[in-house]
Amino acid sequence: MHPVREKVQLSPNVTRLVVEAPRIAEIRQPGQFVIVHLGPGAERIPLTIADGDAVAGTITLVIQSVGKSTADLVALEVGQAIIDIAGPLGRPTELIGSGRAVCVGGGVGTAVVHPIAQGLAARGVAVTSIIGGRSREWVIFEEELRRYGDVVVCTDDGSYGRHGFVTDALRDLLDAGGVDEIYAVGPVPMMRAVSELTRPYGVPTMVSLNAIMVDATGMCGGCRVSVGGKTVYACVEGPEFDAHKVDFRELADRLTTYRSFEQAALERQQQVHVAKMAALAAEAPVGEMGADFMRPPTGLPEASR
Ligand SMILES: Cc1cc2nc3c(=O)[nH]c(=O)nc-3n(C[C@H](O)[C@H](O)[C@H](O)COP(=O)(O)OP(=O)(O)OC[C@H]3O[C@@H](n4cnc5c(N)ncnc54)[C@H](O)[C@@H]3O)c2cc1C
Ligand code: FES
Repeated sequence: MHPVREKVQLSPNVTRLVVEAPRIAEIRQPGQFVIVHLGPGAERIPLTIADGDAVAGTITLVIQSVGKSTADLVALEVGQAIIDIAGPLGRPTELIGSGRAVCVGGGVGTAVVHPIAQGLAARGVAVTSIIGGRSREWVIFEEELRRYGDVVVCTDDGSYGRHGFVTDALRDLLDAGGVDEIYAVGPVPMMRAVSELTRPYGVPTMVSLNAIMVDATGMCGGCRVSVGGKTVYACVEGPEFDAHKVDFRELADRLTTYRSFEQAALERQQQVHVAKMAALAAEAPVGEMGADFMRPPTGLPEASR
């Protein structure tokens, strides 16, 4: 069991949970993830280890609520527990050992890029982070990333930081020169745009792919992606790959494969919630409603990372 020690709402649909997981906290490396199983009947879902504290025996998960499983996770309160967390999984980030790196994060991808910036700074690499959100309230992890170097914040509506996309700020840095490697994590269209931008500059660019994962052991094939014309499994050979070799169109197509099932699961959850509220209003016994959650799930927004 993994009790929740801290819970903080970071943006309208992103929550940070600090949970007990001493063994994982001790051995985790940048770029690695865990498979989280909330409890009986729940899906197993992959989440990046955004941070960890080996002394306190905790890891940090930053969760964007996009569907049933993530809504159930962010409904946990301090003291409640996740039944099972498997990991650390995936290959650690191949960090450069010197020079200058730029970490680009979009949305919840900003939290995924955080351990990479942390690992780079620990090796003495100069880190600049470029992070983006729709508007000020969607910007996360700015303070945390400032511990490792400069941070350029971009918002789509100009309500905070620089007006525009992360790619605008990245173009300026590339034009100025001296960038040795780029790490980009965010929604698929953002990673694809970063990849297209950096290609002509010839700057090595790594992206972390949010492929659909089921077993995360390389057995089921659910997370297969095409990289450099070859089929690879993101769970065991990734999740990070050379952006210039990734087939982003195929990845985007595969991410929509289960959309109707995901929508149905979310709708069922909402119906149960409405029934529970009606029962409470009528002072009916709640136990008969079979409710397994505590508050309404959020809607299904666009891409998860
Ligand atoms: C290596 C890796 C690291 C990730 N790290 C984070 C993270 O730190 N924070 C975060 O908020 N999200 C992260 N994700 C995405 C997260 O796993 C999905 O958002 C989550 O599984 C959605 O489940 P759901 O039931 O809430 O939504 P659903 O309604 O089931 O699905 C919503 C969308 O989430 C994606 N998704 C659904 N099931 C899976 C699955 N089993 N594996 C991967 N993607 C899925 C699909 O794109 C889908 O369209 C990561 C994904 C991967 C592969
Ligand atoms: S999740 Fe099954 S092979 Fe990667």
